[in-house]
Amino acid sequence: MDTDPIRDRLDKLTRHGFSALMDAAADGIVVIDRNGTVLDFNSAAQRMFGLAPGQIVGRNVARLMPEPDRSRHDEYIARYLRTGEARIIGIGREVTGQRADGATFPMQLSVGSAEGLFIGIVRDLSAQKAAEEENQRLKDRLVEVDRLSLMGELAAGLAHEINQPLSAIATYAQAGERIVSDEATDTEALRKTCRVIAEQALRAGRVIHNLRNFVGNRQVVEDEVDFNRAIQDVLNLVEADATAAGIAVHTEYEPDLPPIVADAIRLQQVLLNLTRNAVDAMRDGPRKEHGIRIRTQRSGRRSVGVEVIDHGHGYPRELADEMFQPFVTTKPGGLGVGLAVSRRIVRTYGGELYYRSNPGGGSIFGFSVPQKRAFGDGHHGQE
Ligand SMILES: Nc1ncnc2c1ncn2[C@@H]1O[C@H](COP(=O)(O)OP(=O)(O)OP(=O)(O)O)[C@@H](O)[C@H]1O
Ligand SMILES: [Mg+2]
Repeated sequence: MDTDPIRDRLDKLTRHGFSALMDAAADGIVVIDRNGTVLDFNSAAQRMFGLAPGQIVGRNVARLMPEPDRSRHDEYIARYLRTGEARIIGIGREVTGQRADGATFPMQLSVGSAEGLFIGIVRDLSAQKAAEEENQRLKDRLVEVDRLSLMGELAAGLAHEINQPLSAIATYAQAGERIVSDEATDTEALRKTCRVIAEQALRAGRVIHNLRNFVGNRQVVEDEVDFNRAIQDVLNLVEADATAAGIAVHTEYEPDLPPIVADAIRLQQVLLNLTRNAVDAMRDGPRKEHGIRIRTQRSGRRSVGVEVIDHGHGYPRELADEMFQPFVTTKPGGLGVGLAVSRRIVRTYGGELYYRSNPGGGSIFGFSVPQKRAFGDGHHGQE
């Protein structure tokens, strides 16, 4: 009489299938018993940990992990057997492994348990982690490069902006000296002269203060931002740039905008990038006298935004699809990072950077940012 042929084949498959699976798996597979003793260790695990089966089979699995897990692993198993409380089993999580040479590495661990055995499946995450870190490093570098190139290009305008108050100070100081050396000193004239000197010195100081905020590594600070205020505060940098090119800047502020939570300096950096582009687009154009318009507005129910409206040559049609890609530029000295970095900053705050063509000729670039509640105001739940 035949034994049940299907049952027989299933049994065989379970026996041989498991070892075929072990050998073929790209992930490391480690089988242990309830004492933590390693029973099986597939070839992917051998490569990952740098251990031959003879070096680990029959020993405690804790050897595959660094402290503090190494000394605690027996306790982890005991607790699971005692309470059934799973910290990893059936959930999977990212843990640290240790190779034979002592090097540690991040790995994804999933564990299943059956028949008093535990089967761990491990994936080495070091390559993925390294790629993520490299990616982040490149992004940081991009912001850095952008800020520096922005500074370089702004320098001419800034020199102009600082020179004006400085020469005013010099002129008024000379006038003051003449007044004092006069026989009948006019104290009222002297007082006025001193006041102008002080005002002009403060004006130059403000320009330098704004400038300093952009240079050097600063930490990102999230705070409640009065949108109109933030734009007003950076306007002398914007104007320095535009007026040096003979272009006027007109502003329109929508009153009573709700505050948003963001880093004002970063939003100002976006505005600077947009106006820099606007200036470049208008520099040698025929509509220069129309100037640049900067307009804040409510956009949607709970968003605030700003638009930079220029009368330049408009956005080059053939670039339309890659407008916000990094290193896309039509300028001889351009890096092509202004719009890419700006979009990234705006997205950090849940907003979007957009473009449309100006019906009056030129471009409109703008962004809007949703209003968010400030941290710590007691409303963390959904609205
Ligand atoms: N307001 C605008 N009007 C017309 N074209 C624009 C405008 N803003 C951007 N562009 C086009 O988009 C390209 C990319 O702009 P982006 O700010 O990303 O880089 P860039 O200005 O060329 O260089 P960078 O900002 O790095 O100095 C520009 O080279 C230009 O061709
Ligand atoms: Mg630019």
